[in-house]
Amino acid sequence: MTTLNENQTVKALKGKDKIKILFVCLGNICRSPAAEGVMKAVVEENNDSARFEIDSAGTGNYHIGDLPDRRMRVHAQRRGYNLTHRCRQVTPSDFEDFDIIVAMDESNRRNLQRIAPTIEDEKKIIMMADFADIATRYDHIPDPYYEGAEGFELVLDLLESACQNLYTSLK
Ligand code: 4NP
Repeated sequence: MTTLNENQTVKALKGKDKIKILFVCLGNICRSPAAEGVMKAVVEENNDSARFEIDSAGTGNYHIGDLPDRRMRVHAQRRGYNLTHRCRQVTPSDFEDFDIIVAMDESNRRNLQRIAPTIEDEKKIIMMADFADIATRYDHIPDPYYEGAEGFELVLDLLESACQNLYTSLK
């Protein structure tokens, strides 16, 4: 597991005027829209929203146009995050438009590698769990879709830790 400061892509962006981040999962209705909501809250808390463009997308096309999964919205709302993203699929041009593309698990990473137009573009892919430092047995952000309430809470715990640390490394 690489730590924050070892990630060259992130290191190169530190302090940049404008940073564009795309969070990616499979469905774009649970993990990545939650990551988008949490990261937007982190940059707002730090009065730093103007410097960031934050979006999310899915590698799959099952839910295009949908709001996040109702369960994700309910659990996020309890922590103060209002998730209003509309599901969209990742496109090759996202690799041009964004500085970093943050995958939730290894399957997302492999799918993103297939979509990346060039090998150079693949360097933009980073792993969300590399930035989470809470004590869990997870080395990825686990898909909560077929889980109960605990799965959604675990995702939010991991995302809150990872977003704080990602922001710190980009400050
Ligand atoms: P996500 O979760 O990748 O965190 O948005 C999923 C949502 C929907 C499906 C799979 C994962 N699905 O197969 O419909």
